[in-house]
Amino acid sequence: MTTTLIEEIDKARLPKHVAIIMDGNGRWAKMRNMERSAGHVEGVNTVRKITEIASQVGIDYLTLYAFSTENWNRPQAEVDMLMHLIVVAIERETADLIKNNVRLNMIGDFSRMPAAAYERLTRCMDDTAHCTGLVLTLALSYSSRWEITEACRRIAADAVANEISVADINDETVGRYLSTAGMPDPDLLIRTGGDVRVSNFLLWQIAYAEIYVTQTFWPDFDKDQFCRAIIEYQSRERRFGRTSEQLTQ
Ligand code: IPE
Ligand code: IPE
Ligand code: MG
Repeated sequence: MTTTLIEEIDKARLPKHVAIIMDGNGRWAKMRNMERSAGHVEGVNTVRKITEIASQVGIDYLTLYAFSTENWNRPQAEVDMLMHLIVVAIERETADLIKNNVRLNMIGDFSRMPAAAYERLTRCMDDTAHCTGLVLTLALSYSSRWEITEACRRIAADAVANEISVADINDETVGRYLSTAGMPDPDLLIRTGGDVRVSNFLLWQIAYAEIYVTQTFWPDFDKDQFCRAIIEYQSRERRFGRTSEQLTQ
């Protein structure tokens, strides 16, 4: 069904890292006179589909914003439901992740996560640690300001301990202290649900990401639309501060 769109993708110019702000579950449910939780349940199915297509297309890194630091302020029942859903989804999907050679990774402040969810996730990371294909990173209890603050704290501690010299701190140093250390920066940032904002996601890392916003709510986002975002990405000219003429030289 997605064969035609996949064929339109230039395999030589793939984004290495695609990051997605998965938004619009609540509105998707509301439109159908359903509870917000029904939107989250459907959203999990989209995660499976998009992981599959990203893997099939040949993306190296897929990072999904699943739960923000600010989302802890939602009604407790919704927070509990989301944490429960994570456990159920990981239990159900681990076998398929292994089958598709996908390695699970997590970034975020796990000290705030319920023990059951955290344990299930770390077990899945262990179970997929040998996988060499797509790296699927879930940003959970994550915010970019939390991450950058943590990095500052650790850089300062290492400077005080003389592990690093203050004069040598550069942007590459900062990158090494972030939770995304070792990953390339996202080339493409997709946001579903129509809001044109970044909501505290990967602020440092998206410095030069191409941004693609779709009105489609996350539960309705599909493999075709993912391919369309990649095709649109490939039509952009990434200048990194230079002029167009410099790039063609
Ligand atoms: C995204 O959908 C999922 C999470 C933030 C956990 P929302 O729940 O934010 O859905 P909307 O934006 O209210 O429609
Ligand atoms: C962003 O969605 C966070 C996630 C997708 C996990 P939100 O729904 O929390 O974002 P805002 O509040 O509309 O900016
Ligand atoms: Mg939202």
